[in-house]
Amino acid sequence: MNMKKIMSLVAASAFAVFALAGCGGDNGAGKAEAPKVLKVGSSIDFPPFEFQDEGQKEYQGFDMDLIRAIAKEMGRDVEIQNLGFDGLIPALQGKSIDLAISGMTINDERKANVRFSEPYYQSGLTMVVREDETAITRFADLKGKKVAVQIGTTSAAEVKKIDGVEITELNTPADCFMELKARGVDAVVNDRPVNDYFITKNAAKGVKTLEEKLTAEDYGIAINKDNEKLQNDVNAALKKLKENGEYDKIYAKWFGAKK
Ligand code: ARG
Repeated sequence: MNMKKIMSLVAASAFAVFALAGCGGDNGAGKAEAPKVLKVGSSIDFPPFEFQDEGQKEYQGFDMDLIRAIAKEMGRDVEIQNLGFDGLIPALQGKSIDLAISGMTINDERKANVRFSEPYYQSGLTMVVREDETAITRFADLKGKKVAVQIGTTSAAEVKKIDGVEITELNTPADCFMELKARGVDAVVNDRPVNDYFITKNAAKGVKTLEEKLTAEDYGIAINKDNEKLQNDVNAALKKLKENGEYDKIYAKWFGAKK
């Protein structure tokens, strides 16, 4: 082979490498590049998971930090839409959002309609009553009582299983707590960490949370049923964040160091 031939071969292969690098991203050859912006839905009414402080532009909370970190890991930007909790699964099915992170409990009923990531937070349901309440000390006492729950939640589903309870389904947990204080209901059933946050951070006067847990539940990120690739990518990013300590940092920011 003469020098000229070698030089042109080198040039050709360099060009080939260049061309491949330019079009592939991390998708591998031939596949369409995923859109840059990840469309996220959340019901921004669930501190410390998702909420908005007055006068603050950004949504904040554990879920918000986690999904931003996951998206960053995936090389995507996020656009977060505030939707009613009972509108999240329909929005996923209608593909107006790519995923939902909203303190959403993984269960079989939902799995019939959406995919879930690996669990990212262990939760469960507890009950809040007025400070002066003596008749209700456990879930079994709810018979004949009025209970407020957020519409479309596992709380709503679980309380419906208890006999003789009069349920009021409201749009947000804050609405439920207001109704409790206004004596429109006798108890609120809702996710434990949110109840605890409400009692401590919100300086909720005149109410208390009871110890008993009605259920143990795992939160997952919900994804459209057809989008197995996104499910895999989200799980890979979550795994990475758990391994590199980023998850623990976000956890500690909102809940203190893990016990
Ligand atoms: N974990 C409960 C459920 O999945 C309640 C979630 C409510 N989330 C919210 N952002 N309001 O039904």
